[in-house]
Amino acid sequence: MIVSPSILSCDFGNLKRDIEMLNSSEAEWIHVDVMDGVFVPNISFGFPILKSVRKHSDKVLDVHLMIQNADLYLEEFQQAGADILTVHYEACTHLHRTLQRIRSLGMRPGVALNPHTPVSVLQHVMADLEVVLIMSVNPGFGGQTFLPESIKKVAEVKRMAQEINPQVIIEVDGGVNQDNGVLLGQAGARALVAGNFVFNAENPVNTIQNLRQIAST
Ligand code: DX5
Ligand code: ZN
Repeated sequence: MIVSPSILSCDFGNLKRDIEMLNSSEAEWIHVDVMDGVFVPNISFGFPILKSVRKHSDKVLDVHLMIQNADLYLEEFQQAGADILTVHYEACTHLHRTLQRIRSLGMRPGVALNPHTPVSVLQHVMADLEVVLIMSVNPGFGGQTFLPESIKKVAEVKRMAQEINPQVIIEVDGGVNQDNGVLLGQAGARALVAGNFVFNAENPVNTIQNLRQIAST
């Protein structure tokens, strides 16, 4: 199981310290949430923060765009250090073209689905994806309650992926903790985003290690 701690929940006054904590942990990815205040009712951060994270870490930067008009910024995200670039199905009119461009820029393309969006919309882009991100909360804020319906969606993506693209990584984002992490792992998730669960823990490094181990069983 890959754990992708979300820096949305970190202490931005101590960003370097928190990144160094993640560097010393078993987290393989670092999740970076970019919000534009249009696609979602919140504004997070953009390129300067992403660049700072890149400067201080060699981990895989797992960038989750919750923005409209992602096409305008793909190159800039690549320049800023994104490894995985995930766009929302609901925000991309020409999704296939967007995914091709992400790949041609040398990044790994991902698509995120809001809780109400059926998995079937992925059918014709599944072969082009490296990551499917199942949102287990409505995007926009950290610290929300996990929606259990997401477990079924993970199993559905897994079934679809087995036929078309067995390598695709199914990632889950929102309200993830140790309890739902086990169920998500059993359903087929291979990456778990964790914001508050990691950064509010007394010992984030141990929490990451436990989540990784427990969700892998
Ligand atoms: C929500 C973001 C998540 C968020 C997860 O819109 O996409 O990545 O940081 O935070 P927790 O784990 O606290 O729900
Ligand atoms: Zn996210």
